[in-house]
Amino acid sequence: MGDSIISYSSDKKGIVTSKSTVDDLSPDIISLRPDKFKDYIGQKDTVETLKIAIQAAKMRNEPLEHILLHGPPGLGKTTVSHIIANEMEKNLTVTSGPTLEKGGDLIGILTNLGEGDILFIDEIHRIPKIVEEFLYPAMEDYAIDFVFDKGIHARSHRYRLKQFVLIGATTRVGLLSSPLRDRFGIFRTLDFYTPEELIVIVKRSAAILNTIITDDGAKELAERSRGTPRIANRLLKRVRDYSLVKSHGKVTLESVKAALSLEGIDHLGLTTLDRNYLKTIIDFYKGGPVGIEAIAATLQEETDTLVDVVEPFLLKIGLVLRTSSGRKTSEKAFNHLKLYP
Ligand code: ADE
Repeated sequence: MGDSIISYSSDKKGIVTSKSTVDDLSPDIISLRPDKFKDYIGQKDTVETLKIAIQAAKMRNEPLEHILLHGPPGLGKTTVSHIIANEMEKNLTVTSGPTLEKGGDLIGILTNLGEGDILFIDEIHRIPKIVEEFLYPAMEDYAIDFVFDKGIHARSHRYRLKQFVLIGATTRVGLLSSPLRDRFGIFRTLDFYTPEELIVIVKRSAAILNTIITDDGAKELAERSRGTPRIANRLLKRVRDYSLVKSHGKVTLESVKAALSLEGIDHLGLTTLDRNYLKTIIDFYKGGPVGIEAIAATLQEETDTLVDVVEPFLLKIGLVLRTSSGRKTSEKAFNHLKLYP
């Protein structure tokens, strides 16, 4: 449990007090992340909702309501929680559902939170039931109920917590129990970014990395980033390396195309795994409908990876359809694979 939390002080420097198992928290990525809403691009409605809630909470001198953020990986759920902590000038503690194995793991974190502090639980749908039950009184009454003994000797003791704010992040809101879901006052789904928004993000990140990128280079990179800032920032680093080694360091349309084809990323931004997923449905199951378990078994991939990482973007751009009898590929998918066999 010791290595499952990461804490940040509110001095905006993001001081790491212990290592995290949350994969998107490397200092590298944090430096490309905006730390105030004024620098945050996209998710307009969500940002507006959150700004209003933050301002109202400050005006009333009350803690924010608990917030549930839903959406595919890499769209900014963690970034938004960092920004909220900065805007509220409170400390942020980050953990994730699977690392909270026992009630004691969560209690240890909750009892260390200060007044108004923010607790971010990534993958909150993977929190064990036994731990989830401690969250109910914690969220509702800022309390932990300890029960001693059983039957007629049972006694309970209520431990008061500071008024904290829980931000839960999930890729699968359907897997959350309704008692947990209902305890969040604010619920927002983050959607894929438009290419125009990603162009701005890519240019901003290039500037932070002291890299010159041409307009057409930024456009190409944005269009191949699956609507996802985390992918855009990761690919920018690959393209930046390529451009430094193979040309004079400037990122151009040509260097983006060459570097991304080396990475196996096609003009729609699909990876080898995306294309293999589509090929499996077409070649093995005649285009579907086919159940996700069968696709996962044929591909020898985790079902969760396909559902959380691969499918959302393929559904978004209409290459895959989800029907009551299973997944089907569209004609567009067939044509795309002919281009990229
Ligand atoms: N870097 C990653 N996500 C971002 C966003 N939404 N706005 C600006 N920079 C980002």
